Amino acid sequence: MHLASPDRRRLLLSGLALPMLSACGGGGSANAAPSPAPAPPPALADVPALKAHFATHFKIGMAADPNGYKNAIANPVILRHANSITAENCFKPASLGTSPGVYNWATADELVAFAAANGMVVRGHTLCWHSQTPDWFFTGTAAEVRARLETYIRDVVTHFKGKVACWDVVNECTSDDAGSAYRNSKWLQILGPDYIEIALRAARAADPDVKLFINDYSTEEPAKFARLMTIVARLQANGAPLDGIGHQMHVSTASPTAANVDNALRSVASKGLINHVTELDVSLYNDPGSCFSSKTGCAADITGDPTLLAAALKAQALQYRALFNVFKQHASLQSVTTWGIADNSTWLSGFPTTRGNRPLLFDVTGAAKSAARAITDDAYVP
Ligand code: G3I
Repeated sequence: MHLASPDRRRLLLSGLALPMLSACGGGGSANAAPSPAPAPPPALADVPALKAHFATHFKIGMAADPNGYKNAIANPVILRHANSITAENCFKPASLGTSPGVYNWATADELVAFAAANGMVVRGHTLCWHSQTPDWFFTGTAAEVRARLETYIRDVVTHFKGKVACWDVVNECTSDDAGSAYRNSKWLQILGPDYIEIALRAARAADPDVKLFINDYSTEEPAKFARLMTIVARLQANGAPLDGIGHQMHVSTASPTAANVDNALRSVASKGLINHVTELDVSLYNDPGSCFSSKTGCAADITGDPTLLAAALKAQALQYRALFNVFKQHASLQSVTTWGIADNSTWLSGFPTTRGNRPLLFDVTGAAKSAARAITDDAYVP
């Protein structure tokens, strides 16, 4: 059974208060106050700490910047459930690399200290991306651009050496179109496909122990995954230092199929690589392509409609369960991170359109959702 999430804490508290009154002698039948309201349904019990529950399978991560994990809703959730953290934004070039050779470490260092103090490893995200990268990276000759990329990666990886367990060295390098394996980014235009290998080698030179990843979205779609594996094959043929693939997994209640996820994880492992799920969230909406390309035809906000919301949260719980059932079958999968902590803060509130969304395992109050119970209790029926 799923309870509308904002009501859960209130019900839990009211459920606790009645026995306490009774134990203090306040519940005698002669003096009982009339109770016109029907008894509330039992509260959804809290779930086990996810990091302990999945400890034999993989680490449990959550993405946030300090302002995301310090708020009163998210903080208890990440402390209880996560043993890995990814900075949602403050490790990106736009945050760290204010100008050539000048770095803004403060917020990222704060996150690293928080992780160390609370038993979390840090996934570094990200060193080379077509987005959130200042223009100064791309000026001058190809040789200058290459040197700037190498210097940036050397400086950042060195700064976090021993404090970051793995890096999403290159983010979203795969094309969304069938014509080419490689995204037509400025990096590709200036340096050609070798930029990925250049970035990986620069990271390896700075830290021989840190794990190096390519991270991408829609790896659960067979055609895009095949393009990614074309890139991987070239890197491996060249002996580039690649340790693993990050599967972002920004998915929905309707897709992907378990079989496609299973195939992607299996194929990566067959190449001798580690799998990480790096940005998992399950949107309540199943929008047509036009919503992403032109913001037309997007599904209407359902968060104000209790009936529609309840149905979507049930479908979401089943999708999370199906995904985790696949995840648990793969020894090569070492880390599963959700892109956010609780539904009070999610990038999907503004993407692909501005609208309420509840894509995570914990609700807007930080309480466990049906989805969290579905992945930890096989007998539970959402
Ligand atoms: O910090 C500024 C703030 O000062 C300013 O007032 C505000 C006005 O818009 O912008 C704030 O920065 C925003 C930042 O998030 C922090 O909230 C940026 O505009 C906004 O573009 C940025 O969005 C991030 C996005 O990456 C950038 O492309 C999202 O938070 C973040 O969740 C998202 O994460 C990406 C992964 O890195 C890669 N995979 C996809 C995923 C979702 O898009």
